[in-house]
Amino acid sequence: MEMTPDRWTYTCRYLEETFGRSDRHLLGLRDRALAAGLPDIAVTADVGRLLHLLASTTAGRLGIEVGTLGGFSGIWIARGLPRGRLITIERDDKHADFALAQFEGAGVAGQIELRRGAALPVLEALGHELSPGTVDFAFLDADKVEYPAYWALLRPLIAKGGLLVADNVLGSGSWWVDQVDHPARKATDTLNRTLAEDPEFDAVAVPLREGLLIARRRD
Ligand SMILES: C[S@@+](CC[C@H](N)C(=O)[O-])C[C@H]1O[C@@H](n2cnc3c(N)ncnc32)[C@H](O)[C@@H]1O
Repeated sequence: MEMTPDRWTYTCRYLEETFGRSDRHLLGLRDRALAAGLPDIAVTADVGRLLHLLASTTAGRLGIEVGTLGGFSGIWIARGLPRGRLITIERDDKHADFALAQFEGAGVAGQIELRRGAALPVLEALGHELSPGTVDFAFLDADKVEYPAYWALLRPLIAKGGLLVADNVLGSGSWWVDQVDHPARKATDTLNRTLAEDPEFDAVAVPLREGLLIARRRD
C-alpha cells in the first residue's frame, strides 16, 4: 500500500486519537497556549504518552528536558517520574512564565525546576552541578541544529539504564529527512548516527509523528 500524504495525516490523527488520552488539564493546555500567543509546536498527546511511558521505565530519579515551551511534554515526563524531579530548560521568558502556571495547574510544580536561558550554557552549568551518571531521562526538543552539542554535554550525565529521547530526528514543519542539505537535517543525522554507533548505548528512531530517537545506556 502506497503511503500518500493523506494516508500519513490520517495515520498521525489515528495514533493521537487512539493513544493520546489526556486529563482535563492537558486537554485544555494547547488552547490556552494558543490564546496566550505561544507557537503550536508542542508534541502531540500520543508522543506525550510515549514520553511518560518511557520515563516510567527508568529509575526515575532525575530528568532533563531541553525546550519547555508551554510545559505540555514536561507534564507528561514529570508524571512518568512520580518520585523524581525534572529540570526543564527554556530561553523564552514568555514560554517559561506560561509553563510555570501550567505546572501548577497540573499539580507537578513541586517536581519541576525551570531553568531560564540558552540551552548550551545551562547544560554546561548542569554538567558541573550534577554528578556523572545521575540523569535517568533526557528529552531534546529545542534547537535541532544544536542537538549534537546538547548530546555532547548530556552524555556523561546519563545513568546506566537511563534514556535519551529526541524529537524531530526525521523532520519538522520546515524540513524532512530527504532534504539532505538542510542544517537541521544535517545536525539530527549527526545525532542519529552518533547514537547508533555509540558502543555504550542501544538506539533506534521510530517514525512517530516527526521522528523520535530513543537511546538507552547499557547496564
Ligand atoms: C518545540 S518547542 C518545545 C515543545 C515542548 N517540548 C512540548 O512538546 O511541549 C521548542 C522550545 O525550545 C525553546 N528553545 C529553542 N531554542 C532554544 C535554546 N537554544 N535554548 C533554550 N530554549 C530553546 C523555544 O523557545 C521553544 O519554547
